[in-house]
Amino acid sequence: MGAKSSFLNKDIISINDFSKEEIIHILQIASLMEKNQKTILQGKVLATLFFEPSTRTRLSFESAMSKLGGKVIGFRDPKVTSFSKGESLWDAIKVIDGYVDVIVMRHPLEGSARLAAEAANIPLINGGDGANQHPTQTLLDLFTIKKSQGKITGLKIAMAGDLKYGRTVHSLTHALSLFNCKLYFVSPESLKMPRHIINELEEKGIEFSEHKEVSEIINEIDVLYATRIQKERFPDPADYEKVKFAYVIDNSILGKVKKNLKIMHPLPRVNEIDVNVDDSGHAYYFEQAHNGIPVRQALLALVLGKIK
Ligand code: CP
Repeated sequence: MGAKSSFLNKDIISINDFSKEEIIHILQIASLMEKNQKTILQGKVLATLFFEPSTRTRLSFESAMSKLGGKVIGFRDPKVTSFSKGESLWDAIKVIDGYVDVIVMRHPLEGSARLAAEAANIPLINGGDGANQHPTQTLLDLFTIKKSQGKITGLKIAMAGDLKYGRTVHSLTHALSLFNCKLYFVSPESLKMPRHIINELEEKGIEFSEHKEVSEIINEIDVLYATRIQKERFPDPADYEKVKFAYVIDNSILGKVKKNLKIMHPLPRVNEIDVNVDDSGHAYYFEQAHNGIPVRQALLALVLGKIK
């Protein structure tokens, strides 16, 4: 089956569910969306179900749907819904399935998106499930890399920060392994990339290395993908205190970097990137966040069958 025929009604749960050809097709549709906005989703309704805080994912999905002529319903606080009366996720999805045409859900439990997708007959898009996956972030990250570097294949890309709990880097690592990128993982010992992801890279023969300091690799890379230390996922707050300032990127380490270096971050940032870096010419995190609109428009249009 070709990439173009496989998106109608498809759930977007994990980036691992997509082939390289399918990913490239989504990025191509996102480029079209950037250039040509039409109200192709008129009459369609999106539900945004957010059990965890979000600024970018929820608002960019809502904006993407609105700009394409669709409508949005949903909640950003499950306490004001019947979940507070004990309703199960399964039952709620069975009901919401009859109200809307597509669902975006963020939930703290790993695997919750897959479960919800089983309950739903309509497409369900994972807006982040615990420390597991954030596939739409990965697609906008790939779109951003392509846009800023002119290509993805063969780039040298470093990920720094919380590689253990950061779901964005888990999804992104898998995706970049399809594009023959050289990967550098920079983290404190306690926040290293999970073993199962390292195993996947080893099995595929992907070139990668692990480091303690950004300064060890900053001068050889094309993209630095910084991440927030995920305070909310630490079982023991004392462990967070030990690593909360593990990395602070500032202009002092940018003196000898490649001209094309772009610094990305899924945001929100807390301590990881000094605000002075914003004007360095290497900062690209705000453009990255804005790329959420065309990429999420592409996904909505594809799963709703308005574009092939
Ligand atoms: N990058 C990202 O997922 O941001 P939000 O948590 O604000 O949605």
